[in-house]
Amino acid sequence: MTSLPKLALVTGGTRGIGAAISTALKAAGYDVAANYATNHKAAHAFEKQTGVAVFPWDVCSFPETEAGIAKIEEKFGRPVDILVNNAGITRDGAFHKMTEADWDSVLDTNLRSCFNLCRVIFPKMRDKGFGRIVNVSSVNGQAGQFGQVNYAAAKAGMLGFTRALALEGAKKNVTVNAVAPGYINTEMVGAIDAAVLKTIVDKIPVGRLGEVNEIARTILFLIADEAGFITGATFNINGGQHRI
Ligand code: CAA
Repeated sequence: MTSLPKLALVTGGTRGIGAAISTALKAAGYDVAANYATNHKAAHAFEKQTGVAVFPWDVCSFPETEAGIAKIEEKFGRPVDILVNNAGITRDGAFHKMTEADWDSVLDTNLRSCFNLCRVIFPKMRDKGFGRIVNVSSVNGQAGQFGQVNYAAAKAGMLGFTRALALEGAKKNVTVNAVAPGYINTEMVGAIDAAVLKTIVDKIPVGRLGEVNEIARTILFLIADEAGFITGATFNINGGQHRI
C-alpha cells in the first residue's frame, strides 16, 4: 500500500513568504492547505494557479481556527502533519503614538495565532507520534526595530513559544522550530517608505533584500522526516544582518 503524502497547513499561505512556502511544499509532493484572511479573489486565483487548497478564517479567533482545521481534515481525510505559522501583519509607528488597537491586532495575528493553531493541532501530532511545526518570526523580534514595539514583541514571543513547545514535543517526535527572516522582497517590506528602506538595505551585508524562495527552502529542510533531531532552533535567514 502506498502511503499518502504528508499534509501541511500554511497560515497566511496565499501571499508573500507564505505563498512561496505553500508552492514549494506542493512542488515537493506534500498535500498543502493554505489559510488566508479575507481576500477571496486573490486566494482563489492562487488556488487555481497552484493547486494548493485554500481555506479562509481569522487566525486570531480560536473558534474559527478550530472550524477551519476541521474543514481541512474533512477535505483531506486526515489530520495535519506539518504546520507553518506564517500569518503576520505590521502596524508600524513610534511607540508614543501606538494605539491599543495597533498593539492588539499585531499581537493577536502574529502570536496568539500560534497558540490557536498549535492548541488544536499539537495534541493530535503527539497522539500520532509525528509532527513538524515551524514558526515564522523575524530579525526584528531578535534585535528590535524603531516603530515596531508591537511587532518585535510578538516576534520575540514566538521564539520563546517555539523553544518551550519544542520541549513538550520532543519525546513524541514533534519538532518545533522557528525561522527568523530578515528583510525579504514582499508587499510588506515594499510598503516601507523608500528612503527608510534604502537605509535598511544599506545595512544588509549581502547588499539586497532576500527572496521568498530563500525562506521556503529552509522550511522544506526543517519539515523533512530526517529533521527529527532539529528542534527548539531558530534559523536566521537575513543576508548576514545578525543583530542579536
Ligand atoms: N531611528 C531613529 N529615529 C527615527 C527612526 C529610526 N529608524 N525613524 C524615525 N525616527 C525619528 C524621526 O526622525 C522623528 O524624529 P523627530 O520627532 O525629531 O522629527 C521621530 O523618530 C518620529 O518619527 P515619525 O513621526 O516619522 O514616526 P512614525 O510614527 O511615523 O514612524 C516609521 C516612522 C513608520 C516607523 C518609520 O521609521 C519606518 O517605516 N521604519 C521602518 C520600520 C520597519 O523596518 N518596518 C519593517 C516592516 S517589514 C517587516 O516587519 C518584515 C520583517 O519581519 C523584517
